Amino acid sequence: MKVAVLPGDGIGQEITTQAVAVLKALGLSLETEEAPVGGAAYDSAGDPLPQATLNLARDADAILFGAVGGWQYDKLPRAKRPEQAVLGLRRELGLFANLRPSIVYPELVNASTLKPEVVSGLDLLILRELTGDIYFGQPRGVRTVESGPFAGQREGFDTMRYAEGEISRIMHVGFAAARKRGKRLCSVDKANVLETMQLWKDVAAAVALEYPDVEYSSMYVDNAAMQLVRNPKQFDVIVTGNMFGDILSDEASMLTGSIGMQPSASLNASKKGLYEPIHGSAPDIAGKDLANPLATILSAAMMLRYSFDDEASAGRIEAAVRKVLAQGYRTADIFEPGTNKVGTRQMGEAVLKALA
Ligand code: IPM
Ligand code: MG
Repeated sequence: MKVAVLPGDGIGQEITTQAVAVLKALGLSLETEEAPVGGAAYDSAGDPLPQATLNLARDADAILFGAVGGWQYDKLPRAKRPEQAVLGLRRELGLFANLRPSIVYPELVNASTLKPEVVSGLDLLILRELTGDIYFGQPRGVRTVESGPFAGQREGFDTMRYAEGEISRIMHVGFAAARKRGKRLCSVDKANVLETMQLWKDVAAAVALEYPDVEYSSMYVDNAAMQLVRNPKQFDVIVTGNMFGDILSDEASMLTGSIGMQPSASLNASKKGLYEPIHGSAPDIAGKDLANPLATILSAAMMLRYSFDDEASAGRIEAAVRKVLAQGYRTADIFEPGTNKVGTRQMGEAVLKALA
């Protein structure tokens, strides 16, 4: 098994170092190889996704990804910005299915900004389509307005689009996942306004007929955003498009107390996956041993589960994470008085100890 490790920028290096140590401690025959990506790759090779990095990602069985981005890259032309690396990997490897679970660990129930009774016991899966929608739709650009009150001005435009097959394949992933969990699936769209989303809703309803054992519903995205904070436990699996999924998954992450606890998997049709924490590169705390490595460590667990079919090892990592939380170890983002505040390294070491 070969894992490409792409640490990226900011806290990326610190958190992937801890996750790689956890993977290595399991005693599996697993080989890792590191390559630069994002701003780090722009600095060293002039390209956020150099060909060598893309080749390594292509050859590997799975990819462990840290985070990309930094204020110093914000003024670069779009094609050179760090974010293009992750978008390019998603597109080039066909990673269309993005699983973003939100689990509230009992020890962290007070870390959420919502009332404990609203979030305790939450186990939600947001499945975000990752290679279509307005993120990749063409045409896009900036043009000049021809007529009307804004004639002569610049106009930015993007294209929201989905082909039927793109919608049905993500729905099948969603229904299969729901079958193994709480057997409820809610498709989130904006069919009341957008043509693309009416097609989304129609295709979702048609696929639902193939899964009579899963309770199917659909909801408009604005209502879903509201329901996620009103009563998140009404959801089991949410399936949605690229743009809405980006927003709703950040919202859902805060139900769990910290975005620093949220792993993710991005899978293609042959189960090759890119595994990354859903948080960003946090340049403000980079290199200070402050970042929470648990989201990346939990992403490594998802890697073992989805790309290597090793449920036992995935479960071992997740049990170790639960154990360190029960033991009171907390990074700054999840700290509360009475617990033991630790840095990135100490948290990683505590997980290694709990594994042993
Ligand atoms: C995410 C991020 C990315 C996205 C950015 C970094 C391009 O926000 O993975 O959610 O918008 O998809
Ligand atoms: Mg996002």
